[in-house]
Amino acid sequence: MTSKASAPGKVILFGEHFVVYGVKAILCAIDKRITVTAEKIPDDIISIKSDIGNLQLQKNKSIDKIDGPLRPFYYLADKIIKKYDQNFGMQITVDSEIPLGVGLGSSSACCVAASAAISGVFEKISKDEVLQLAIEAEKTIFPNTSGADCTVCTFGGIMQYDKQNGHEKLEYKPNFHLVIANSKIEHSTKQVVSKVKQFKEKNEERFSQMCKEESDLIDDVMNCLENNDLKRIGLNMIKNQEYLESIGISNDRLRDMIKLANEYSFGSKITGAGGGGCIFALTDQSNMENAINQFKKNNYECFSAKIDFKGLDTF
Ligand code: MEV
Repeated sequence: MTSKASAPGKVILFGEHFVVYGVKAILCAIDKRITVTAEKIPDDIISIKSDIGNLQLQKNKSIDKIDGPLRPFYYLADKIIKKYDQNFGMQITVDSEIPLGVGLGSSSACCVAASAAISGVFEKISKDEVLQLAIEAEKTIFPNTSGADCTVCTFGGIMQYDKQNGHEKLEYKPNFHLVIANSKIEHSTKQVVSKVKQFKEKNEERFSQMCKEESDLIDDVMNCLENNDLKRIGLNMIKNQEYLESIGISNDRLRDMIKLANEYSFGSKITGAGGGGCIFALTDQSNMENAINQFKKNNYECFSAKIDFKGLDTF
């Protein structure tokens, strides 16, 4: 039997990095998806095919022996086959509409879609169970994850998230388009998160003040979302970007992109870990086309995205 699931990518509208230290973040699922297909195979192996590489390995290997971004898939397949005490292997195929490893939630969307697809070979499990497994799997490559990315990839829409209270879906349906541009600079979320940890340890007082300011900013954003006040959301993005600059996760190329984006949109910022990856600009019908054209004119890879309200889909 073949089991298939897809999950959307995401942007962090506000609060990345600070969310790791308890601040609320606002995330938004985007209409670009990762689809995972899982199928039983008679041999005792786990086989993974994806754009970022292939892996074929016997079951029951220690997870420490598996390197690289395919580790969560192996972890999930091995764990789920064991749970159902089955004597066969698993073939897993990954198809992506999301550029991988650029801060758009590809690794979380993979973990969510894989957790649902692999479990689905045996039985359909709830979204909450899928999420729990997905976060566990993501921790095999990214032990400090807050769980925020997997949560929004599972439930879709716009969501507020903090470590203590978990996620809460926001019922706002603001009328915006995001223009997402890729710096094409590779980054490792794990490394950038640990760089921020070092910054925090050297600047405890300053960092805790910034967490407070980020929190206030996010409270303001909640009102703006309710009133569809895109201009003010944009101004808050510009401010949030300044905090991200201060904690050292930007660079010259990202700064150039942000400068360009701010000229042609309501505001822009990095999304996700930073250090490379993507920025996004907030636009609506009035300025979206122009923002895209300006990025293209300056030779940046870019595309527009809308909010995905569906989240995890199984079929
Ligand atoms: C990465 O997409 C988001 C970070 O805040 C890390 C996390 O929340 O786990 C940088």
